[in-house]
Amino acid sequence: MEIVICPDAVEAGKLGAAAIVALLKRKPDAVLGLATGSSPLHIYDELAARYEAGEVSFAQAKGFSLDEYVGLPADHPETYHNVIRKDFVHRVDFDDSAVRGPDGLAADIPAFCASYEAAIAEAGGVDLQILGIGTVGHIGFNEPGSSLASRTRIKTLTKQTRVDNARFFDNDVSKVPTHCITQGLGTIMAARHIVLVASGTNKAEAVHQLAEGAVSAMWPGTVLQHHPHVTVLLDEAAASRLQLTGYYRETYASKPDWQGL
Ligand code: GLP
Repeated sequence: MEIVICPDAVEAGKLGAAAIVALLKRKPDAVLGLATGSSPLHIYDELAARYEAGEVSFAQAKGFSLDEYVGLPADHPETYHNVIRKDFVHRVDFDDSAVRGPDGLAADIPAFCASYEAAIAEAGGVDLQILGIGTVGHIGFNEPGSSLASRTRIKTLTKQTRVDNARFFDNDVSKVPTHCITQGLGTIMAARHIVLVASGTNKAEAVHQLAEGAVSAMWPGTVLQHHPHVTVLLDEAAASRLQLTGYYRETYASKPDWQGL
């Protein structure tokens, strides 16, 4: 796991975007794993800017979203289907139909989840997965207690996650759905490169556990310690509880250019 401590979240977003631009240069039809939430917004802003500047194209790329609320009407502005389009997909030349996500209105949820796993596999698997992390340590919506081997499935959201996300629902926790469909930890672990981005002091404990805690279902992001290629992009606040900051800074500063992220 490579930890990069950036001066601020904008710089972290630029580094994440650069990794995606580099991937699309060598593989224009790459498969991207897309995350919603506030964490990746600087990555998407930078990618939109670099697309406008003619530096990158998503025309041949494919995308798979991590998660979705169960039961929100299709035209609700907070479905992750709609959010990822507004925040990213419709700002670049991504083909709308090339970006899929879990169907929160599926009549047969287990059958849908199996078909989603099959679609990711058929596309050749995810080349680069963008991730945020919740204050409870979840990735996707894999809440504490999630099986480290889990695949796409329905989950019950914790009260804390619903409180955290109430800001998207008129600050009314009762409007936040109680269930979601999320790629599992095993699904996420199958991605070839994982870029996790976090900013702010409210993420500092989750980031500390992610990188330096014991691997445990209590902090689901810790499963990434078993992944061979994870890049964690942080601002100073999110890095503020890490123990080995001196080492992380030194390592990144002395990294040879050819290595990339
Ligand atoms: C959300 C999403 C996650 C996201 C996390 C952090 O609820 N399901 O994919 O990474 O929680 O959210 P944010 O980036 O808004 O802090």
